[in-house]
Amino acid sequence: MTDRFVAAIDQGTTSTRCIVFDADSRIRAVEQREHRQIFPRPGWVEHDAGQIWERVQQVVAGALAQAGLRAADLAAVGITNQRETTVLWDRATGRPVHHALVWQDTRTEHLCAELAREHGRDRFAAATGLPLASYFSGPKIRWLLDHVPGVRERAERGELLFGTMDTWVIWNLTGGAVHVTDVTNASRTMLMDLRTLDWDETILAAFGIPCSLLPEIRSSAEVYGTATGVLDGVPIAAALGDQQAALFGQTCFAAGDAKSTYGTGSFLLLNTGGEPVRSRHGLLTTVGYRLGADAPVYALEGSIANTGSLTQWLRDKLGLISTAAEIETLALSEPDNGGLYLVPAFSGLFAPHWRPDARGVVVGLTGFAGKGHLARAVLEATAFQTREVVDAMVLDSGVALKSLKVDGGMTANNLLMQTIADMLDAPVMRPFVSETTCLGAAHAAGLVTGVWPDLDALRAEWRRAAEWTPRLDARVRDRMMRKYGKAVELAKGWVD
Ligand code: G3P
Repeated sequence: MTDRFVAAIDQGTTSTRCIVFDADSRIRAVEQREHRQIFPRPGWVEHDAGQIWERVQQVVAGALAQAGLRAADLAAVGITNQRETTVLWDRATGRPVHHALVWQDTRTEHLCAELAREHGRDRFAAATGLPLASYFSGPKIRWLLDHVPGVRERAERGELLFGTMDTWVIWNLTGGAVHVTDVTNASRTMLMDLRTLDWDETILAAFGIPCSLLPEIRSSAEVYGTATGVLDGVPIAAALGDQQAALFGQTCFAAGDAKSTYGTGSFLLLNTGGEPVRSRHGLLTTVGYRLGADAPVYALEGSIANTGSLTQWLRDKLGLISTAAEIETLALSEPDNGGLYLVPAFSGLFAPHWRPDARGVVVGLTGFAGKGHLARAVLEATAFQTREVVDAMVLDSGVALKSLKVDGGMTANNLLMQTIADMLDAPVMRPFVSETTCLGAAHAAGLVTGVWPDLDALRAEWRRAAEWTPRLDARVRDRMMRKYGKAVELAKGWVD
């Protein structure tokens, strides 16, 4: 049956992938390509949106060729993407006015502090579920309007468009015909009201952002338009931020279901059902997904800025390993961390601290410390940060975590998964299809186009492939968490 395939495009922070699934959710092809990471100054991170669009076309063509399919064989395509990353482009030429400002970029830190002084910290949190932080798109748009010559004037004349990567990809796939975003991506701009699911005009005014820039906000699963070019004729039937796509792909459909995705950063999301739950412990309130005209499903999120990126740093900047997978071997060369603790505040600290003024620290150094200890400290930092956001979730929801569903590239690292189970004192489970981000986008698109009938059909397909159970002595665990907590205090306030 040639019409039972669904493609997912995952436009991520370090690479773009296209995966083709069949109607049994089996992977038929995977194509992936990295794009350039541009670091113009410390704390600044940019992407070339033009190069990203090239990568999208290349991975789609590659995946179709690998699967031996033509575009016409696809029932639908779903889009998922790195969230918050901000691009402004000319609506007539399609040319970006500047590199995209990546979610990790901290250049708007001072702007956020100014906005907080002017409007009060909570003014935006009540409507958007987000603290004022450089992480989100709103401040990034404002920076581009203020700093790129001519951009504010062009925006005011209605010549420019804004998008996160979902919007950029859909606009390009439709040859410039469709300018939309979905509720999950919109919920990360700091410009959308979580209850009305519409742009908040008072926030737009406070940020000084013209409405004409903004895409239309749509649900996460509906046909936005038909693709041209490499996917000619294929309905574009879903869009979700990558973390929300993973929540969907892990079939976390019920309130209380949680997942954590380990990629460049790590993101733990807990489905809280039909009501947005306000966090009092440093988590974000966000939209989990919205299927067509159904009511939205909300989530609490613990966002950790740097986890997988640390392994890249060890590989690309320090040259201690030559492939990401080698970090596990290096870490296993030592029985423990040798007293080293690392706080990876490369982009400040996200949840639950929200301290843009923090920077990374390594503490506990003695002449005994070697590269194996550093590799351990790098992996343990991911586990400690997971524990911090789980603690915040337990405090906010009042419900203890029974187990955690995990996915993402780093779940191939057994030592890391074991350390996470140890730090959480709860089992950690990885599903059979570990590509849950793409799977979530494909499932949402396939629901719209009748490839899958309903959520129960998707739930029936989730199968556990691996499980790690805790085995660390509670006293050792508590001591390690205490030491990490002390190191976090040292990281705070480093930037004047
Ligand atoms: O919020 C940022 C997140 O969406 C990026 O995810 O997987 O591309 O690092 P990833």
